[in-house]
Amino acid sequence: MGTTICEYQPGLANVPAAESGISFIDGDNSILEYRGIAIEELAKKSTFLETAYLLIWGHFPTKDELDTFENDILHHRRIKYRIRDMMKCFPESGHPMDALQTSAAALGLFYSRRALDNPEYIRAAVVRLLAKIPTMVAAFHLMRKGNDPIQPNDDLDYATNFLYMLTERMPDPLAARILDVCLILHAEHTMNASTFSARVTASTLTDPYAVIASAVGTLAGPLHGGANEEVLLMLEEIGSVKNVAAYVDKCLANKQKIMGFGHRVWRVKDPRAILLQDLAKQLFEKTGHDEYYDVAVALEEAVTERLGEKKIYPNVDFYSGLVYRKMGIPSDLFTPIFAIARVAGWLAHWKEQLVENRIFRPTQIYTGNHNSPYIPIEEREFTK
Ligand code: ACO
Repeated sequence: MGTTICEYQPGLANVPAAESGISFIDGDNSILEYRGIAIEELAKKSTFLETAYLLIWGHFPTKDELDTFENDILHHRRIKYRIRDMMKCFPESGHPMDALQTSAAALGLFYSRRALDNPEYIRAAVVRLLAKIPTMVAAFHLMRKGNDPIQPNDDLDYATNFLYMLTERMPDPLAARILDVCLILHAEHTMNASTFSARVTASTLTDPYAVIASAVGTLAGPLHGGANEEVLLMLEEIGSVKNVAAYVDKCLANKQKIMGFGHRVWRVKDPRAILLQDLAKQLFEKTGHDEYYDVAVALEEAVTERLGEKKIYPNVDFYSGLVYRKMGIPSDLFTPIFAIARVAGWLAHWKEQLVENRIFRPTQIYTGNHNSPYIPIEEREFTK
């Protein structure tokens, strides 16, 4: 029997699962860095694809490297008609995250060669996943409405093309830039649940499509990426500023979590929430105010007043939904958009995991019985 080397920590809180040079959080001092660069700098000066390159290859691309990377992604945006046909068979009532998880896994059927020690294979998988995931999200959305998907437009950059494929019209340039910044903000976040899931899957040396599919499935949960959708449903349920205090009190009395608040690592307002709130304001200035923004601000005040001492503040999911809603995006696509961004971080972790891979095999503390007898079926009692 192996030796247990540390005490059991529910949720593996504070237990390191890897050594990583990809991102860094100081949850007390509002610091999030990708490869050592502050998220605020990247949000101001970078693009999502440049940030993805930085995360995955560990350094900023030169102009030529970035041009080649963007061009490769541009030429791999289309999805095979068989994948489209497969997606057409998905039930229109299905959740887009389930559609995305299935479609991401299906890519592995079409690109089944596995050569994890070949840098060209790694690069091709990175390009394919970054390029095709937005197309699959948009295609499922149009097909569930009974429409044909729109082909990617080669004249448009990553975020503009995604909004174009999704909404069937050319987006406002400010909205496209804001979406690109949202993708930067969601691209990576140390050892969270979906990234851990990606690394565990990667550690078995399976293909990268299975790695991304398992991470998408993990992100979908309401305690993780799925919270952004839940936040908007909650704001709609609250309806108006005057109902906020009673709503918060009811949740606390029922020991119900308030969506978009709290975090294992952040002990201050998540810096991404601060940036997203600012983006929401910029968008509203141009396209008109959103009444739910007032509800959100009042909710933040009420929760901070009651839970501030527990260090419960808005997390990344709190303001993102308001931004996407203003862009005309339905709430069940908020988490798939999160996934589009986080593919960059998951791929960076996949690549890092492969460098000095050891398969994940933690231990457990057995709490069951030993030497129990086999009970014949007629002697068994009904147990609830
Ligand atoms: N509303 C009310 N109380 C909360 C909230 C919340 N959103 N979050 C935490 N608390 C309270 C808990 O009740 C607990 O109080 P107690 O010590 O008196 O029992 C304390 O704060 C610690 O909370 P835990 O749930 O133990 O913290 P944990 O680190 O396990 O969970 C999590 C973090 C899952 C994010 C939690 O805060 C939560 O469920 N938030 C709501 C869902 C959400 O917004 N998720 C998105 C997170 S960001 C992301 O994944 C991209």
